[in-house]
Amino acid sequence: MHIPFSIATLSLLSLVNSQSTNTTYLVAPALITRNNHTVIQCWKLASPFKGSATPGISGAQVATISNNTNFAYTIVPPRFDGGLHTAPVPQIVHFFSGFAHVTLPHDDSVGLWFVGGKGGLGFALDTTGTGHITTYPSDQETLIITAPFADGIVPEHEVLNEGPCGGKQTFI
Ligand SMILES: *[C@@H]1O[C@H](CO)[C@@H](O)[C@H](O)[C@H]1NC(C)=O
Ligand SMILES: *[C@@H]1O[C@H](CO)[C@@H](O)[C@H](O)[C@H]1NC(C)=O
Ligand SMILES: *[C@@H]1O[C@H](CO)[C@@H](O)[C@H](O)[C@H]1NC(C)=O
Repeated sequence: MHIPFSIATLSLLSLVNSQSTNTTYLVAPALITRNNHTVIQCWKLASPFKGSATPGISGAQVATISNNTNFAYTIVPPRFDGGLHTAPVPQIVHFFSGFAHVTLPHDDSVGLWFVGGKGGLGFALDTTGTGHITTYPSDQETLIITAPFADGIVPEHEVLNEGPCGGKQTFI
């Protein structure tokens, strides 16, 4: 398998730790529609991780993100071309194995690589317009969780920048 990516274009779930408060936030790319085209933004969710008191994970860090409907688990075959499409509904997409490559038909200067696992989180919100192209070039199945936002309510967030999250990635 040859994956022609650079680290700078990897779209990785990140956990940004604010040094002044030690508060940790989720950072992940979002696909949104602007002027009938899909564009990429880097989002930081407004709701931080908090220490959990839930039995079984007491003391662990938990970010509560959204209410969701029709949670689904998808198995995409190796070397699959998803073609050009819009997001069917505003949803969380988490790739947890394999690779996905997202490109934009009107702008070949940017794209996203989702590596299955911690770096596999994204928000697909481009329900209108020309959409995006997703391919799955690896030799393995790509496993995806999709979790549509209930009533289309997207979590509060800050746009850190236009484009992929790039150098803002931090892992803890
Ligand atoms: C952040 O956490 C580190 C490690 O637990 C600690 O040493 C530091 O004092 C904390 N900083 C603040 C501002 O709470
Ligand atoms: C978006 O597409 C619709 C339908 O093709 C068109 O009517 C509208 O003018 C377009 N808007 C922009 C901002 O290009
Ligand atoms: C989910 O729905 C419940 C019940 O309406 C609400 O109390 C809660 O704040 C919602 N959670 C989020 C993260 O929006």
